[in-house]
Amino acid sequence: MHFPSDLAATRRDLLIGTAAAVATTSSSSRLAAQAPADIGPVIAPVSFEVNGAQREFSLDARTTLLDALREHLHLNGTKKGCDHGQCGACTVLVDGRRINSCLTLAVMHQGQRVTTIEGLGTPDNLHPMQAAFVKHDGFQCGYCTPGQICSAVGVLDEIKAGVPSHVSADLTATPEGSEAEIRERMSGNICRCGAYSNIVDAITDVSGRKA
Ligand code: FES
Ligand code: FES
Repeated sequence: MHFPSDLAATRRDLLIGTAAAVATTSSSSRLAAQAPADIGPVIAPVSFEVNGAQREFSLDARTTLLDALREHLHLNGTKKGCDHGQCGACTVLVDGRRINSCLTLAVMHQGQRVTTIEGLGTPDNLHPMQAAFVKHDGFQCGYCTPGQICSAVGVLDEIKAGVPSHVSADLTATPEGSEAEIRERMSGNICRCGAYSNIVDAITDVSGRKA
């Protein structure tokens, strides 16, 4: 049986013990939170091909491919829209496949082949997809356009290679380059100006399929 004075002592001991535990925990979590700040950035060598030229440089290992292209190589044709993988403005081709360059680290592409809008064509010698965007008026402000064009080039390669999409009726047959296929495959590329119909016309034109 406990007497009131015993209870008081027990409660006091408990409070002191709890306070000590909280103090210990918060000081150790403070130390844990501070630890990374003392480590600093890790500088890593990066080497890959960009638009046919071998590029070698060192950068913070946390640098995205998008920032490496824009800030380190000054290829600012590739645009930063959302920086969260939601708009497609940063689309480039890596070893021929389209990717969102804001969602991948530059150091993950050692030895690979990166193609940006600057590497597809020049003002005097446009890539067929660039020429088709001009012909079909596939842009207004142009901010999304480099990503749209790189993505469109990747889409036609995917279709040619027989890669099915969410709307392919037969997963084993070579997909048709139908409007539905093109719209589905381009759905990750947002155009705030709403040039979608003309973009689909441009891609259909390059695919050789009749609209
Ligand atoms: Fe990469 Fe928007 S900037 S998806
Ligand atoms: Fe303006 Fe697409 S042309 S966002």
